[in-house]
This record gives sequence, structure tokens and C-alpha cells, in this order.
Amino acid sequence: MLRLKALIPFLFTAFISQDGFAQTPQTAGAFPISAPQQPADPAKIELGKKLYQEPMFAKDLSASCASCHQLKNAGVDNLPQYIGMNKQVGAVNTPTILNASLNFRQFWDGRAKTIAEVISDHVKDKSIFDSSWPTIIQHLSENSIYTEDFKKIYPQGITKATIEDALTVYIENLLTNNSNFDKFMAGDRNALTNDAQKGFRLFKKYGCIFCHQGPNLGGNLYQRLGIYKDYYADKGPPKKSDLGLYNVTGKPEDKYVFKVPTLRNISRTGPYLHDGSIKTLPEMIQLMAIYQVGQPLRNDEVNSIAAFLQSLNGQPDNDLITNQEK
Ligand code: HEC
Ligand code: HEC
Repeated sequence: MLRLKALIPFLFTAFISQDGFAQTPQTAGAFPISAPQQPADPAKIELGKKLYQEPMFAKDLSASCASCHQLKNAGVDNLPQYIGMNKQVGAVNTPTILNASLNFRQFWDGRAKTIAEVISDHVKDKSIFDSSWPTIIQHLSENSIYTEDFKKIYPQGITKATIEDALTVYIENLLTNNSNFDKFMAGDRNALTNDAQKGFRLFKKYGCIFCHQGPNLGGNLYQRLGIYKDYYADKGPPKKSDLGLYNVTGKPEDKYVFKVPTLRNISRTGPYLHDGSIKTLPEMIQLMAIYQVGQPLRNDEVNSIAAFLQSLNGQPDNDLITNQEK
């Protein structure tokens, strides 16, 4: 029963042009998260954890990674759009940091390939940190705790590359592979309630899994929002941040195309969508059914899928979270 059924060919028509890197859905399925192949250097993780809380990234020293990607709130801020430097309201919703390292691209529009690229993008982004690497390196170098920590791990000391490396290693370990779903996939039949199991079956039957697939149930494809129905005809005219991958490639077929987001911890990461416009999970599931699957769901089906999605909630290792974040 756990083995996924053969894919239904007509659903392939839902797949639209990708940037040439995305994998095709031949192997669509939902998988447990495996532990990192090589255990990371604990000293790097500790340093990354410290940097994650470090307000020196922001020009006015007011915000750290943890301000928006809050670990006690499943790696998000639970706001429709982020609030950045000088209380500016950002254009998009904050995605979760949990399991982010499993994504094939980073950001809603996929403009970064690595976490290091995300950090550099954030550093210069006027609405996020509005800073520069020389400024950050200078601030950190004035703190003897950091100079010693870095020297112990990296002979070259505090540099852009070593800051990015420590943060990347830390984030690569922010995995939530202890969810009930992972236990179920590992063979514990009682880990999912009957309703959640029904939801999992519906999730496969309706083809949610063709887009939200892999260990992150998302994060490995680009897809357009509005396959069966024009989302912006209903919502109102699109803004620049609604254009998605088009902002990266300039290709007309990439308009409104986004990286399919992860569904891990989804019941805790609302509001939803790149624009943060959808408040509740049931609303979000029905929206997907209408715009992405082409068939509205009954309320009991929505509720079962919600029960399944709740089984994707997990916690990163307790040691990775600082006391102030617990
Ligand atoms: C002011 C809020 C804010 C702060 C501070 C912040 N981020 Fe982000 N982060 C965001 C937003 C918003 C996005 C999505 C932006 C987009 O897609 O255009 C994002 C995206 C990301 C992503 C990509 C996730 C994904 O699924 O695409 C990673 C990784 C990330 N941030 C890491 C960090 C790290 C590391 C720091 C600290 C150095 C940090 N962020 C600080 C708001 C913030
Ligand atoms: C054709 C691809 C596709 C299918 C099929 C699909 N989704 Fe999505 N889903 C997406 C994309 C793309 C987004 C992000 C769109 C955006 O933010 O503009 C998304 C977003 C979501 C979100 C919100 C995620 C977040 O972090 O805000 C949820 C929840 C979700 N989908 C659940 C489902 C469910 C349940 C189904 C089946 C009923 C489904 N999806 C079917 C592509 C798909």
C-alpha cells in the first residue's frame, strides 16, 4: 500500500516548461528525509548557530536571520509579508528555513542556487539587511569571541566564504526528519491516524504529489500558479513579485512560475503563497484543488488532506535551537 501507484499520464500535461534544471516527475513520490550523509563538524554547527542569531548582519544592527526565520515558529515569521529594515513591508512571504537545504533552488522565484547565494542576496537587499560584506566582516572581527571561534575552524579567519560556510552547515542540519510521516514511511503503521492516511491517499489521487514531491514534498520543480484557472484574473492584476521565475529569466512562459514550496511543517507556516494572501490551511488546500488540480474538493476531503499535512510537522534537533528561540 505504501508503494506509489504508477503515474497517471494526463497529469503530465500539467507540467510546463522549466529552466532546464528541474527534474521531470517520473519518480514523483513522497519520501522520508534522510539524515545528512556525513555528520557535520560540531564546531561549525555551533558557530553557524551563533551567526544565525547575530544582529550585526543588518546595517542598523536590528535584525538577524532568526528575526524572520524564527525556529520556534517552524522557521517563519507568520506574517503575510516580511517586515524588514526600517519597518519596510517586503513584497513576499518568508519561506521556512527548516529543510531549506533540500530545495533544488532557493527563493520563491528560484534565483539562488545555494544558501551562500541567498545570504549574499539578503546582505545587500535594501529591505532585508541593507549591508555589505566588508561592514559585516569588520563588525564580527571586532568581537574576540568570533575571531577565536573562526580561527579554530578556518585558518583564513573571518571572510565572506567562512561566514557563509558556517551558516550553510548549520542550516543543512535544520531538518525535521522526526515527523509522524517519516515514522510511517519507516514502517510504523500507527504513526498516521486513519484520517491522515486517507489524506495521503487523496494527496496522491488528486496529483498534489506530482508537484509537491521528494523528501521535502516540494522544492524540486518550478510550476505556474494557475494551471486550470487564471489566479490573477480572480485576485486582481499581478505585481512584479507575482511574476516569479520570469523576473529571473525574462521568458514569457516563465510568468507566474514559482518553485513548488515544501509542505513540511505547512500547518505552522501560514499565511500561505508567495504573496502571503491565504490565511488558513483548508482555504489553501481548496485553492490548490481549484487552480492546480482543476477539481474542487469536498470539505471532508480537505480535512483529511489537512490531517495528512499535519503529519509532516517535525522538530529540528533540540541542540540546534538556542534557549531564547525555544
Ligand atoms: C527581514 C526578514 C528576513 C531576514 C532577516 C532573513 N531572511 Fe531569509 N528570507 C526572507 C524572505 C522574505 C525570503 C524569500 C525571499 C524571496 O523569495 O524573494 C527568504 C529566503 C531565505 C532562504 C530561501 C528559502 C527558500 O525556501 O527559498 C534561505 C535559505 C534564507 N532566507 C536564509 C536566511 C539566513 C541564513 C538569514 C540570515 C543571514 C536570513 N535568511 C535572514 C526573509 C528574511
Ligand atoms: C501543478 C503543480 C501543483 C499541484 C498539482 C499542486 N500544487 Fe500546491 N503549490 C504549487 C505551487 C507552484 C505553489 C506556490 C504558488 C505560489 O506561492 O504562488 C503551491 C503552494 C501550495 C501550498 C502553500 C505553500 C506555502 O508555503 O505557502 C500548499 C499548502 C499546497 N500547495 C498544497 C497543495 C495540495 C494539497 C495540492 C493538491 C490538492 C497541491 N498543492 C497541488 C504547485 C502545485
